Amino acid sequence: MINEFSVFRSIDKINDSTHLIKVYSPSIAASAKPGQFCNIKVSDNNFPLLRRPFSICDVNGDEIHFLFDIHGEGTRLLCNKKNGDTLDILGPLGSGFKIEGDYDTAVIVAGGLGSAPFPFLIKKLPANKKIVSFVGGRSKDLVLTYGLKNVFTATDDGSDGFNGTVVELLKMELENFSKNKIRIFSCGPNPMLKALQLFSIQNNYDCQLSLESAMACGFGICQGCPVESADGESYLLVCKDGPIFNADQVKL
Ligand SMILES: Cc1cc2nc3c(=O)[nH]c(=O)nc-3n(C[C@H](O)[C@H](O)[C@H](O)COP(=O)(O)OP(=O)(O)OC[C@H]3O[C@@H](n4cnc5c(N)ncnc54)[C@H](O)[C@@H]3O)c2cc1C
Ligand code: FES
Repeated sequence: MINEFSVFRSIDKINDSTHLIKVYSPSIAASAKPGQFCNIKVSDNNFPLLRRPFSICDVNGDEIHFLFDIHGEGTRLLCNKKNGDTLDILGPLGSGFKIEGDYDTAVIVAGGLGSAPFPFLIKKLPANKKIVSFVGGRSKDLVLTYGLKNVFTATDDGSDGFNGTVVELLKMELENFSKNKIRIFSCGPNPMLKALQLFSIQNNYDCQLSLESAMACGFGICQGCPVESADGESYLLVCKDGPIFNADQVKL
């Protein structure tokens, strides 16, 4: 883990609500793996006190990219940063996606801002892997396909792609793939991950879930981000043991 005083380079709007920021952060960029995250101090003073965690969306040379929507004070402050501002970033944190192994198609499943970690994953997947992406949102304007490949979309209101959830869409489309040859990489809201977890366990699909949790330290000290283990006998920490877990590892 590195604490790097990074330089804010740019901010762009990807759609009506989502922003992409680029930050010069050479040390973190050099060691980042897909699926890891950074804990960002969003102000120069003590308000808000806690850092805010964001998935590493992409790494381009010395730059790290993050995608976010404005939810509250932290993301509003981040959005007001100007080029050249310094940003105190801790990272890279947590486990990354497991990308090596015996599969031929990487199946990405994302809901809403859950698309954030996948541009970097796609860049780092071995060249011989095929990629297919399933992306869901409540409506067309909330389907985030930034940096994804071979995209199928689903919306709750039917305004784009399949009318239904992204997991329902996945169930239909996976009939065309060989079970042993796919690996599912997923990130999104908990109800989506829960449905996907059940489906993948029932069907014996190789599946990794990227979880979110409220966080303070981001590296295993405060015990503030527990998730129950699948056997119900212990707790794992989302920041340190995750945020990437195998589908059969945790109880959601
Ligand atoms: C490992 C990890 C990776 C993450 N990656 C990303 C990312 O790549 N992009 C991103 O935008 N967010 C990501 N998040 C969530 C991000 O940390 C929160 O969006 C952020 O902390 C919000 O801070 P805030 O001060 O703006 O909002 P707060 O003041 O903390 O919250 C304001 C309001 O927004 C709600 N809220 C907060 N977070 C979310 C959320 N994720 N979804 C819906 N409502 C929310 C709160 O319940 C509250 O009502 C990640 C979280 C984790 C744990
Ligand atoms: S956020 Fe402190 S232990 Fe996970």
